Amino acid sequence: MKKTLPKKLILYAILVLLPLQTDAQKFDSLALTPPMGWNSWNHFACDVNEELIHEVADAMVSSGMKDAGYVYVNIDDCWHGTRDSQGFIHPDPERFPSGMKALADYVHAKGLKLGIYSDAGWKTCAGRPGSRGYEYQDAQTYASWGIDYLKYDWCNTEALNAEGAFLTMGHALVAAGRPIVLSICEWGTYKPWEWGKKIGHLWRTTGDIYNCFDCVINHGTWKSWGVMQILDMQKELRMHAGPDHWNDPDMMEVGNGMSVSEDRAHFSLWCMLAAPLIAGNDIRNMNKETRDILTNKEVIAVDQDPLGIQGFAYRTYKDMEVWAKPLVNGQLAICFLNRRENAREIIFNWQDNPVGDDISKTSYDFGKTEYIIRDLWLKKETGTTGTPLKAVIAGHDVLMLKLIPEK
Ligand code: GLA
Repeated sequence: MKKTLPKKLILYAILVLLPLQTDAQKFDSLALTPPMGWNSWNHFACDVNEELIHEVADAMVSSGMKDAGYVYVNIDDCWHGTRDSQGFIHPDPERFPSGMKALADYVHAKGLKLGIYSDAGWKTCAGRPGSRGYEYQDAQTYASWGIDYLKYDWCNTEALNAEGAFLTMGHALVAAGRPIVLSICEWGTYKPWEWGKKIGHLWRTTGDIYNCFDCVINHGTWKSWGVMQILDMQKELRMHAGPDHWNDPDMMEVGNGMSVSEDRAHFSLWCMLAAPLIAGNDIRNMNKETRDILTNKEVIAVDQDPLGIQGFAYRTYKDMEVWAKPLVNGQLAICFLNRRENAREIIFNWQDNPVGDDISKTSYDFGKTEYIIRDLWLKKETGTTGTPLKAVIAGHDVLMLKLIPEK
C-alpha cells in the first residue's frame, strides 16, 4: 500500500516551515570567521573610481593579501551617480564609466568579491543618494550587478528606528536572492550588538576610527577615535560576537601613517578581538613593513580561529594589558600591550596568572599544564610557560604569543 504523509504533518510544514523560510532575515554562514578585505574610505575618502578598484584588486593578488585570506574589495561612499526616472540608482558615469557589473566581473575574475556602500537615510554621509524608500529596488540592483557585501550606513536617518531600518535592508537583500554580507554601520548608537545578529553579519560598535594610536578628534557634533579609544569600547561587548555575527571596531588604519610598532599593535589587537580585518590603506603602494603586518598568517589565524571567541584583557597593570583569546585545540593567544610611549620590561609568571573565561567556559592553568610559547611576530618558539616570561616591549607595541599545550 502506498504510504502518504499524514495530513496534519503536511499542514504543519506549510504553516510553520514555509513562513520560516520566507521570513529569513539574513543569508546564513557568509561570515563564519570575521570578514577580511579592503575598503576605500580610510585612505581615499570620496576619491574613488573604477581604475582605483581595478588596481586595488590587482594589488590584492600581487601583494599576497589574497593569499593571506583577504577577499572583499569594498567601495565606500561616493560611487553614486543619480537615480533615474524609475528610481534605479546608477554609479557616477565619470568615475565608473564601465558600470558596476563590469567592475564586479573584473574583481570576480581575480577570485575576489566586490562590496558597495549605501545608507539607511535619504542621503549618505557624504551627501550621495541614500536607500531610504528604495531598499528593495537597491538590493535588487546590487544583486544584478553581482555585489557580495553591503556596508549600510546611518547618516540622515532622522526619525528612523535603527533595528527596523536595518531589518528592511536585510529583508530586501534576502528577497533579491544573492548572498550578500550585510555590514551594519550605525556606530553603536542603538546597541546593534543586541539586535544585529539576526539581521547582519557584523556591526560597527563605535564612531569612526582616526589614524592615531591614542587620541580623540572632536569634530563638534561627533568624534573620531584612536586605536586605544576604540579598543577600550569593545571590552563589554565580547559576549555578543561569534561565527556569522561580529563586533566591528572599524576598518584598519595599518599603513596609513602610524609607526610600525603602532600598526603592529593595532593589527594584533584587532585579531585578538576577532574583528573583521578590513584594510584601509593604499595597498597598491605599501612598504614591506605594512605588507608584513597585514599578511602575517600566524596572527591572522588568531583572528580567523573557527571558535570565533572575542578576546579579553585578563590582566591589567598600569598601562600594560595582557589580552587572552581562547583558540581551537586547547590553544590560547596571549597579547601583551604596552600602552606607554616608552619601552618597558616585563616579568610574567604564568603559574600565578591562570586564565579563566566564563563566556567561552575555558580555563588554562599553567601550574597543571605546560604550554609551548610561540612568538607570532618573530614566527618562532621562544620557550614554555614553565618559567616566567621576561621581555622588553617597545612603546605602543605588543608581544603576541600563541600557547600550545605540551602533549
Ligand atoms: C561614516 C562611516 C564611515 C564612512 C563614511 C562615508 O562616517 O562611519 O566608515 O563610511 O561615513 O561617508
